[in-house]
Amino acid sequence: MTKIAPSILSADFARLGEEIKDVEQGKADWIHVDVMDGKFVPNITIGPLIVKAIRPHTELPLDVHLMIEEPDRYIPAFAEAGADYISVHMEVCRHLHRTIHLIKESGVKAGVVLNPATSAETLEPILADLDYILLMTVNPGFGGQAFIPSVVDKIVTVNRMVKSRGLNGIEIQVDGGVDSKTAELCTAAGATNLVAGSAIFGKEDRGAAIAAIRHSAEK
Ligand code: DX5
Ligand code: ZN
Repeated sequence: MTKIAPSILSADFARLGEEIKDVEQGKADWIHVDVMDGKFVPNITIGPLIVKAIRPHTELPLDVHLMIEEPDRYIPAFAEAGADYISVHMEVCRHLHRTIHLIKESGVKAGVVLNPATSAETLEPILADLDYILLMTVNPGFGGQAFIPSVVDKIVTVNRMVKSRGLNGIEIQVDGGVDSKTAELCTAAGATNLVAGSAIFGKEDRGAAIAAIRHSAEK
């Protein structure tokens, strides 16, 4: 079954605990936490303090998407704060193997993120070390942007790479502009895990919004 990971970037930050409970009751699978540093991406969002604050409010895995430069400096703090999954961008990691193993040694599952313009082939040398791959379908930085359809071919390519090596346990996550229309394009191409911010938190009934995305994903 496709996993749905609501991104709290589009939630009401003044009521974060309740917002997370709402999507948990609405049958979300993971909680996606967007960390931005104002350098790698233009926006600034949240740090380990907030991850620690939301940890007691949900049983769901916390999936921390680091859109930051020098992620190695902050990985231990996010792990300590209660992250279950941490993903880092290919575009900022000079020593990716070291970074991935730092995440794992911190007791957290490790993922690599590719921006829309970064090619699937860059994953080849690190593939076997990964728990998940995140393919961006927007340029990271903000919620509510339009899905970039040309990334769908990359989902197909990555899915083939994973399958041909028998690495079936690796999740393929997609993030950006995912809604009840675009979800099916992602899963048909091989995605197993969908992040959605505005398409869930922008709706009054979060359970219905998650169900609509799931329905599209499982067509
Ligand atoms: C974008 C973030 C996304 C964002 C998705 O930089 O990584 O997780 O919250 O928001 P939507 O689903 O609204 O495109
Ligand atoms: Zn994200």
